[in-house]
Amino acid sequence: MLKEDGTVTDSREGGRLRLLVCVSGGGTNLQAIIDGIKNKTITNTEIISVVSNNRKAYALVRAAEEGIPALCISPKDYEDREAFNRAFLEAVQQAGPDLIVLAGFLVVLPEEMIAGYRNRIINIHPSLIPSFCGKGYYGLKVHEKALERGVKVTGATVHFVDEGTDTGPIILQKAVSVEKGDTPEILQKRVMEQAEWVILPKAIDMIANGKIAVEDGRCIETDKGGCS
Ligand code: GRF
Repeated sequence: MLKEDGTVTDSREGGRLRLLVCVSGGGTNLQAIIDGIKNKTITNTEIISVVSNNRKAYALVRAAEEGIPALCISPKDYEDREAFNRAFLEAVQQAGPDLIVLAGFLVVLPEEMIAGYRNRIINIHPSLIPSFCGKGYYGLKVHEKALERGVKVTGATVHFVDEGTDTGPIILQKAVSVEKGDTPEILQKRVMEQAEWVILPKAIDMIANGKIAVEDGRCIETDKGGCS
C-alpha cells in the first residue's frame, strides 16, 4: 500500500509477499529463492518480477525458465542517470512489490526508491558486515580483501537497504571458515553455498511471516520469533 508520505507498506492481510528481485549476473541467489519457494522453506511468497540491468545476465534465463516476468533496464539505454532512475522507479512501481530483493544487483538505487520503500528492500552482501563492506566492496573484491587481511572467518549478511552503502539494519548473518589455499574464487563459492543461499531465502521467509521488525535502526525479533 502506498502511504501519504510516499512510503510503501505491507498490506497483504494474509496474502502472499510479492517479491521483485533485482539481478546483474548469474542469478544463483535468485535460484535459491525460486528453489526455496518450491520446496517450501520460503512460505507465503511469490516472485512477481525480475529486473536486470544487464541484458546478458544468466539470471534472466533462470526467470524465463520459471515463467517469471522479467525485464532489462540498463543505464546504458538512457540519456543520463536521472532518466534511468525514473524508468527504473516506474517499472518497480508498476510491478507493485511488497519487498524488493537485491540479489547480486550492481546498480546504486535511486534515493527516491530507498525512501519510498523504507525497510522493504533487502540486500545480500558476501561478508560479515561491518567487515569488508561499503564503497568498492562488491563481487570478488570482497573476498580478495578478506584473504589479504588474513581473516580466519568470513561470511554473508542480509540487511535492509538505507541511504548508505551496506549500512542498513542487519537481518541475518552466517559465518564461513577461510581455509588454507583459498583463492578469492574458491572463497566466494564457499560463501555463496554455505551462507548466501541459506540466509537470503531464510530472511525472505521471516519477512513473509511477520517475524522481523525494525526499531531504532536495528532488526529485532517479533513475538513470532526471528533475527536470531
Ligand atoms: C553474490 O556473491 C552476491 O553476494 C554478490 O554478487 C554475487 C551474485 O551472485 N553481491 P548471483 O548473481 O546471485 O549468482
